[in-house]
Amino acid sequence: MEQIVALCKRRGFIFQSSEIYGGLNGFWDYGPLGAELKRNVRNAWYNDMVTNHDEFSVPTGAPQAFSMVGIESSLIMHPQVWKCSGHFDLFIDMMVDCRECKSRFRADHVKSSECPLKPSKHPGEFEKCKLTEPREFNLMFKTTIGAMAGEEGTAYLRPETAQGMFVNFKNVLDSTRVKVPFGIAQVGKSFRNEITPRNFTFRSREFEQMEMEFFCHPSESRAWYQYWRDRRYNWYINLGISKENLQLRDHAADELSHYSCGTADVEYAYPFLDAGEYGELEGIAHRGDFDLRSHMEGKLVKSGNELVVEKDAEGNPRHRGSGKDLTFFDDQTRERYIPHVIEPAAGADRGTLAFLCEAYHEDEQPDEKGEMQKRVMMRLHPKLAPIKVAVLPLIKKEGMPEAALKIYRELKEAGIASYYDQQAAIGRRYRRQDEIGTPICITVDGDTAKDGTVTLRDRDTLAQVRMPASKIVDEVTKVLRR
Ligand code: GAP
Repeated sequence: MEQIVALCKRRGFIFQSSEIYGGLNGFWDYGPLGAELKRNVRNAWYNDMVTNHDEFSVPTGAPQAFSMVGIESSLIMHPQVWKCSGHFDLFIDMMVDCRECKSRFRADHVKSSECPLKPSKHPGEFEKCKLTEPREFNLMFKTTIGAMAGEEGTAYLRPETAQGMFVNFKNVLDSTRVKVPFGIAQVGKSFRNEITPRNFTFRSREFEQMEMEFFCHPSESRAWYQYWRDRRYNWYINLGISKENLQLRDHAADELSHYSCGTADVEYAYPFLDAGEYGELEGIAHRGDFDLRSHMEGKLVKSGNELVVEKDAEGNPRHRGSGKDLTFFDDQTRERYIPHVIEPAAGADRGTLAFLCEAYHEDEQPDEKGEMQKRVMMRLHPKLAPIKVAVLPLIKKEGMPEAALKIYRELKEAGIASYYDQQAAIGRRYRRQDEIGTPICITVDGDTAKDGTVTLRDRDTLAQVRMPASKIVDEVTKVLRR
């Protein structure tokens, strides 16, 4: 993990936020290559979910064809949203403070944390530690709207993007021609005031989510749950995560969130974990009608096997819903019902981190003198690689830079992220590209001027093939479609 973190800083994937001021715990910046990588992760997700989704195809094992649409909702929403969603009351972690060193720990992380005064011990085990009893801590970031002081002006930075889809359910139904079953997807920032952010970007206070709420008939919800659970697992496999490092784990009943009647996590064997351990990459939850009903009727709580509106001492809803009709009327069957929801909720940062970890690879390759040298290579899927092609003139004369620049410009015009490099020996230039995951290097040499051909080098196999320069754009496009 240390090597991956070092590479991320050295090559401009990920930096600590506000680093020149000592950094800010739980916040990260993506550098030039990291921003491209993360954008490719987001695009791969959005293309799969929305842009390239064919709504006329009937998925195997699930009941019907379906539409998928995207939205972008605001980061700050009406405070009542978080009261009805349950976040206001339930989005809490138990924390303990140390009165001696003034540090704060998640109660369930104390045994895996270091005492800041005596790092060889856990908090509470050093003689000077003065830990408080565990106390509740709401993870939502508070802010104030306008000039209003006090509770009236209090608002929250969204802790998930999901609520944007629920509160816009009626808007989407009324403004488009979608019919149940359909999905609303969104990519955007979320904020959680994590007590102990850690493990690089894995647990951050500001992060990006890629969430989709799929609205379906209650009787078909189990089949859709199964469909999305499997489809989301395969998305990671198709983008290069190996089956040995990925698992789909069903939650036990006591692990389920307050709204969920079934959840499975896609989990990855991050290198900061012990052997055999996995960390959450994405959750796929069967949320029933919890969210739409809560936003209609008021915050729900479980009463036996039922969800009922929570009441205060006077018998009024503890948190009032919108009172708006969030049912769906099926004009074929003449049935009116509240759709059930299946939610695949992924993290763009955790995904990016998993792709980086999976890609990191070391081997030995001969240098120009034939001596074996350590090589660091990022085996990123071509769709995710920040730079797809590096164009390299063998030497800086004899018309090679001009020929290479022509190819570079053709690639750029075709919308292919490319890089031109004429500095240093060719072996060093290859290694610079291997280290950032560039799948293809194109070398222009003495023969290019004679017969118009160039060498195309494959990052993973190191195979080199000669081909006409005029075919490069087509060939690269083929590789990127794989
Ligand atoms: N709407 C449901 C929901 O938000 P979640 O499991 O709390 O579910 C979904 O979050 C995904 O968001 C997680 O699987 C993870 O990838 C990402 N995520 C959650 N908290 C995070 C954090 N503190 N830092 C980075 N990513 C986080």
